[in-house]
Order: sequence, then C-alpha cells, then structure tokens
Amino acid sequence: MDSQVTGEARVGEAQVASALTEAVAASFAGAADPRTREVLEAVVRHAHALVRELRPTQQEWQQAVEYLTAVGQACDDTRQEFVLLSDVLGISSLVEAVNGDPDGTAGTVLGPFHMTDSPVRALGDSIDQVGTGTPCVVTGRVTGPGGTPVPGASVDVWQCDEHGFYDVQQPDLQPPGNGRGLFTADEQGRFRFRTVVPSHYPIPTDGPVGRLLRASHRHSFRPAHVHLIAAAPGFRTLTTHLFVADSPYLDSDAVFAVKPGLVVDFAEVDDPEQAARHGVSAPFRQADFDVRLVPDERAKVEQ
Ligand SMILES: [Fe+2]
Repeated sequence: MDSQVTGEARVGEAQVASALTEAVAASFAGAADPRTREVLEAVVRHAHALVRELRPTQQEWQQAVEYLTAVGQACDDTRQEFVLLSDVLGISSLVEAVNGDPDGTAGTVLGPFHMTDSPVRALGDSIDQVGTGTPCVVTGRVTGPGGTPVPGASVDVWQCDEHGFYDVQQPDLQPPGNGRGLFTADEQGRFRFRTVVPSHYPIPTDGPVGRLLRASHRHSFRPAHVHLIAAAPGFRTLTTHLFVADSPYLDSDAVFAVKPGLVVDFAEVDDPEQAARHGVSAPFRQADFDVRLVPDERAKVEQ
C-alpha cells in the first residue's frame, strides 16, 4: 500500500515537473533572437533534467549556489576562476572540439591567464625579460589551405616562466608582459621569438576550483606549454598550445587540453653558430610549430 502511494506521488510529481519545464521553456518564446531562445530553452531543459536526476535537497542546492557565488567572487582583473572551472570540467575542451576543423591545426583551451594584452614585439625579440631560464627559440609558419603562407598573420603568445608562474601571478617578481608577445608574421607567414622553456605548473588551487580538485583527489598540474592565438583576416582565429614533448603530465593534464598534434619537440641545440644567429647562448632548445588556419566561412559569404 505504502509503495503504491509513493509510486502515485512520484507520477504526480513527474507531471508537475514536466509541466513546469515546458512552462519555463515556453516563457522564452518572445525572444527576438532565435539563437537566444534556443540557448535559454536548452539551458532550462538540461538544468531541469539534472535536478530530476540528482534530486538535490534544499541544503545541497544552497551549497551549489554558494559554490558558484564563490567562483564569481574569486574573479578579478588578473584571475578568472570561471574559466578555470570550465577548464577542469572539460567544458572548455569540449567547446574547442565542437568548433574544430580537421583541415586546420587543432585548437585547445584559452586558459585563465590571457587577461592582459601582450606587448607588441618584433620578430626575433625575446618575450623573456628575466633571463634566468633555459634559452629557447620558437619558430614557425602560419599557413592556409594547401600550405599557402598567410603573410602578416598576428601571432599572440604567452607562457609561464621556468618555475611555472605567469607574470600576473608574481607582480612583485616578474615585470608586466613577461612571457608574452604579439608578433606579426612576415611575407612568408613565418614567425620566430626567443623565450625560456616553460615549466609544467599547478593551476591555482587556493580558490573554489582547488576545493573541487581536492574533494575528488585530482592533481592540479598542467604539462609545460606555450599558448598561441593566430589570427588573420578571412580566417578563423585559432587558439591553441605548443606542449613541450618531454614534460610530465602530458597524459593527465588537469584541464584535458592535450592533443597529439600539439606536442612539439623542444630539441636541445649545442651549436654556437646557430645560437649566435638567434641571439641566444648555446646550448639552447628549439621548437618549430607550423599553424594551419581554416578560411572563415562567414568572411567568404561577406566577400
Ligand atoms: Fe597556461
């Protein structure tokens, strides 16, 4: 008898919940922009489905609200905890995946440290303003379909230092713009810059995202990498990384961003002549990374 009553209650509850979901979804029917309506309806349908599946208590829902509030409160001009949360949940990588194009270089997450503009630098300049790490030269070429060069493409790079810290994390130790540079590729689409070999590093764990990682016994490390955004008129902007091939954590990146085509050999070069040509001391490490951009369909339509 009791189970029959419980079953009937559940059926009644399901009907009420379903009607509620439909009512909320329908409330967006007046949105002028069809995409806005589609997004809002989908968010509501999926969020309601999550509640029906998990059946959170009032206390648990309050904890969820407090957690997201803490994530927002941890953000400031130099820290983006929401990007970090999206990263550790694999959502940033998934967004990259659904926007990827097999004809171009694989994209990967933007990460939380691209919050300041990179200083404009000339090809061959050093993005390292401290001079204590292992010297490194990065070269590459920006191309389009068929390997044709993309002259004048912009190449924005940023990385941590040899200890695993970005400039914005150590404003007292690193000058602003250290490890960052905005370059313009030459007529053959080539770019080059000097730097130091970046270290693997832990993502910030002193905030709500750190609590999430500790609660699930996950480590916080990312393999060593250089971030890169390549852009040119008529092409889709590419946000990606070069991963250092001999770095730890390539197989367990805390933000799920490693893709095979992005792992690059940072080869040791012990040749004084080559070192002199690049303006570094031997031995140094050298990485070469070509970027293939994909034409922007929207730009084609507008032409
Ligand atoms: Fe990074």
